[in-house]
Amino acid sequence: MDIQVSAGDITIAQADTIIVYAFQGSELTSAAQAVNKALNGAVDDLIAAEDFSGKSGDQVLLYTRGAITAKRVILVGLGEADKFTADVARRATAQGMKKASDLKAKTVATAVPGTEQDIAAAVEAVAEAALLAVYHYHGQKSGDSPASLPESLLIYIAADEDVDAAKQDVQAGEAIAAGVQITRDLVNLPPNVCTPAYMAQVAGEVAKEVGLKIEVLEKKQMEALGMGALLGVAQGSETPPRFIVLEHNADKANELDTVVLVGKGVTFDTGGYSLKTRDGMSKMKGDMGGGGAVIGAMRAIGALKVPLHVVGLIPAADNMVSGKAYRPQDVVKASNGVTIEIISTDAEGRLLLADALAFASRYEPQAVVDIATLTGACMVALGGVAAGLFSTDDQLRDQLVGAGLRTSEQLWPLPLYEEYGKTLESQTADTKNSGGRMGGAGVAAIFLKNFVDYPAWAHIDMAGLAGIDSLSGKQENPYVPAKGATGYGVRLLTDFVRRWQA
Ligand code: BES
Ligand code: MN
Ligand code: ZN
Repeated sequence: MDIQVSAGDITIAQADTIIVYAFQGSELTSAAQAVNKALNGAVDDLIAAEDFSGKSGDQVLLYTRGAITAKRVILVGLGEADKFTADVARRATAQGMKKASDLKAKTVATAVPGTEQDIAAAVEAVAEAALLAVYHYHGQKSGDSPASLPESLLIYIAADEDVDAAKQDVQAGEAIAAGVQITRDLVNLPPNVCTPAYMAQVAGEVAKEVGLKIEVLEKKQMEALGMGALLGVAQGSETPPRFIVLEHNADKANELDTVVLVGKGVTFDTGGYSLKTRDGMSKMKGDMGGGGAVIGAMRAIGALKVPLHVVGLIPAADNMVSGKAYRPQDVVKASNGVTIEIISTDAEGRLLLADALAFASRYEPQAVVDIATLTGACMVALGGVAAGLFSTDDQLRDQLVGAGLRTSEQLWPLPLYEEYGKTLESQTADTKNSGGRMGGAGVAAIFLKNFVDYPAWAHIDMAGLAGIDSLSGKQENPYVPAKGATGYGVRLLTDFVRRWQA
């Protein structure tokens, strides 16, 4: 979908469909007022009949009967004016765009939702949400995709606004949406397609597109680095692991602050010998959602040219059962020398993260954030409403919580109590990899802390937010697919990195 910007009167737009907005209490934005006037008060009639009030979620369709070029107008409610945010703009835009594409609109013009706002943020939000709303995964279905995407979207800004500046904002929105789309595709793809090597291939394409440095470590190199935890997980699979390193502003690493993003890339989690149930295993193609989010975020961060040295690490492996697979009671050694007694082969994500968190030290980062579909316990605690957040640094925690609120990819802080470490004490190694079910999300976080030696680290447990599970309490959001991958984490991490403050 091609997105352009125009300044001035939306009623003369060359489009088959126009989208305009109103606040609760039927307070029309200026573009909606112009449409109302051009349609001889048709919107006034709707309001008088109490068929539209501007509540969020409200939507009506009007036909123009030749009064203007567009044949139809979609009027979308924004809710209360004093609660307006960029996310309200995203949701309203997405709602309008979904309606437009349901109606098979080909050329759409939309006003910028809201009034007296940060126009840059609003234009970016419109472009981002419009693209996210029309995302469609066709998968391996034979035949053409039935989805009918509009060909073009024209974003109207006020006559006195700067079109060139707005075009930049459109590009920012497009960059973010492209990152999310990559992640959604990776999570939706079946595990026989989305292997560690495939993730590395996609990361390579991303690196090329936006100019990132990329290095992909294979088994031999991981062995040389002593990544025994990652390799322990990978050894049961015929599908070899990869350790993907993406780097933005690698050449300015000395001048800029460094932030490392780490994402769990388990391309399928059977549980290993601590085998999952049929049901438990059925959603596990999404267990690379954290790694997918890091690839998507790096795509956006590169395209946005964020003035920061950002490294993305994606340890990727299958967790399978075979004669070569690791077992409970095996002891493996991570690359920082910490030995781990395997209690459950199903606690594999933390083993991948262990080697990746240790690898992050070489960058002497100001902050490291990992994101992983790590524990069912976190999913039980928070449902689909928020991911769990653990942090060794309050400022880092607050920055991430803020990013979560702005992007509607919410985070809820959970405690890093040292007491959780008690259950990880091992007779045979420095630590166990699992301490049982109780406090499972916190125990996993404390386990990870063994591999952290930098000032600020945060861990995001996004089990349940990748979108493959249907969860109670899942947020309804018009720019996030109701079924399948959400792309959770891309917008969150990108927003966090863009607003980074040391
Ligand atoms: N990938 C799972 C966690 C998960 C469960 C993500 C459901 C999404 C939906 C992870 O590898 C796992 O199996 N965790 C175990 C840890 C336990 C063995 C300590 C769990 O949560 O049961
Ligand atoms: Mn597991
Ligand atoms: Zn897993």
